[in-house]
Amino acid sequence: MLKSERIKKQSWKPGNVLWPGPVVLVSCGGTQDWKPNLITIAWAGSVCSDPPMLSISVRPERYSHAIIQATHEFVVNIPSPRQAKAVDWCGTVSGRNVDKFADTGLTPAKALKVRCPIITECLLNIECRVQKSLKLGSHTMFVAEVVAVQVSSALLDTKGRLRVEKGGLLAFAHGQYFELGRCLGHFGFSVRKHSPK
Ligand SMILES: Cc1cc2nc3c(=O)[nH]c(=O)nc-3n(C[C@H](O)[C@H](O)[C@H](O)COP(=O)(O)O)c2cc1C
Repeated sequence: MLKSERIKKQSWKPGNVLWPGPVVLVSCGGTQDWKPNLITIAWAGSVCSDPPMLSISVRPERYSHAIIQATHEFVVNIPSPRQAKAVDWCGTVSGRNVDKFADTGLTPAKALKVRCPIITECLLNIECRVQKSLKLGSHTMFVAEVVAVQVSSALLDTKGRLRVEKGGLLAFAHGQYFELGRCLGHFGFSVRKHSPK
């Protein structure tokens, strides 16, 4: 029997099932016209390394959409599994009605290059300036250049290299939060001489 016959598949209608993925806390606002706000985003990704760029996709009905469209700035804050509850909270209430920094107890701090605050408790903060807004349908994709990065020394090893797993790794998959665990190998391990089969 062919392998393709043993592993049975169903055909589903087209939908977004690109899981697992990241889940991040995006901060925005903090200008004269816009108070600081937080939004949880799962549709985020790296899109270019030189210049360093990433994207977030935001529905136009989100309060944060109006803020980012007006200010062209946001910060991607990487949460740890310990912050999963705050992540969920910021993804279920709107900054139109509440102060999410106050509600979650997260502490805003000054960013280096953008006006919106970073989240102190998140150990990695990626400051972004929007270069392009693409209206795709349900979501607007904000494609942004990374203009500064703040990293806690808690995420560095003795040689100063980034070890992002030291803070714990939070992922999102089809409606559920997961804490990532075991490292299976370093980049390129499959082509090294004594690689496991
Ligand atoms: C795990 C999770 C992931 C989410 N990902 C996105 C996303 O990628 N894009 C989006 O527009 N909304 C996303 N949301 C919904 C917003 O975070 C939510 O509507 C939020 O309350 C909007 O806040 P705001 O009105 O203050 O901007 C997500 C929510 C959760 C809980």
